[in-house]
Amino acid sequence: MFVDKKLVPGSELLSYALSNKIAIGAFNFANTEVVQAIVSAANVLKTPIILQASPSAIAYLGTQYLKAIVSVAAEESEGPLALHLDHGQDFEICKRCIDEGFSSVMIDSSSLSFEENVRKTKAVVDYAKKFGVSVEAELGTLSGVEDGTSVLPGCSFYTNPDEALEFIERTGIDSLAVAVGTSHGSSKGKNGNAKISIERLREIRKKVGNFPLVLHGASSVYQDFVDVCNKYGANLKDTCGISDNDIREAIQNGVAKVNVDTDIRIAFLSAVRKVLSENTSLIDMRGYLSAAKDAAKEVVMRKIKTFL
Ligand code: G3H
Ligand code: 13P
Ligand code: ZN
Repeated sequence: MFVDKKLVPGSELLSYALSNKIAIGAFNFANTEVVQAIVSAANVLKTPIILQASPSAIAYLGTQYLKAIVSVAAEESEGPLALHLDHGQDFEICKRCIDEGFSSVMIDSSSLSFEENVRKTKAVVDYAKKFGVSVEAELGTLSGVEDGTSVLPGCSFYTNPDEALEFIERTGIDSLAVAVGTSHGSSKGKNGNAKISIERLREIRKKVGNFPLVLHGASSVYQDFVDVCNKYGANLKDTCGISDNDIREAIQNGVAKVNVDTDIRIAFLSAVRKVLSENTSLIDMRGYLSAAKDAAKEVVMRKIKTFL
């Protein structure tokens, strides 16, 4: 049974997205304030959303707190909501999340061989299907830092379109994360230039048809938030994100779920730094956390507007 009766399987949201040529924003969280910001942004824009937690976010919050927070979020959310495990590294964590009531999981065996990736992904699909839980997997390699996995920039390997079709058919997954030029974190390209290969996306789409694709590493890394961070003591260098145009074009070419974490982190940080710098005698955490929550909501709204 899902954490809350109002949670829906991720696949339902992604089919809705594909048929309406929009994408569902999948936002990472690791605390209550960020969940409040995401749900509140989605309510203003009247859109479904996916709340997602990485294994380290689950460890940070603790499963029981996470479930309680998401259960309240599901009640507060006016639209449909899914709870997704982001970058599950093995069968055990996927099983644990399915057993705990997540409505969607990602098994990320993309660093393994194709055959191993198929085998590990299929095992998760076979288990998840019994509970109506959706499964996302990844093929190809994104550069940057994933939870526990580090890939150097410039060494990313785009998803192979033929392999994508075979992978989908052999595993029975509900959605596929593709490597098409994005990467995790705040430095997505050299000299401010990060590009999605729309050509590669089109080739994948030609092979797999109307199948939901997932875009990881899709933060915009907005300059105004970066500037505030740096003005108030941060040293964020070589920042570079994905343009709104690229995201929109990706959505027109089969991307139905867009993952965002870094943008929320930077917006949150900018507010904390600003409030603390300008109020050096402040000791009440609500002073800076409420500003951080507002900044997170603002950035989530900006992102959602590019997905609709
Ligand atoms: O894709 C990775 C996400 O940004 C999660 O990062 O493992 O630090 O929570 P994290
Ligand atoms: P960003 O680092 O671009 O926010 O990507 C997050 C992500 O892909 C989570 O799975
Ligand atoms: Zn990711």
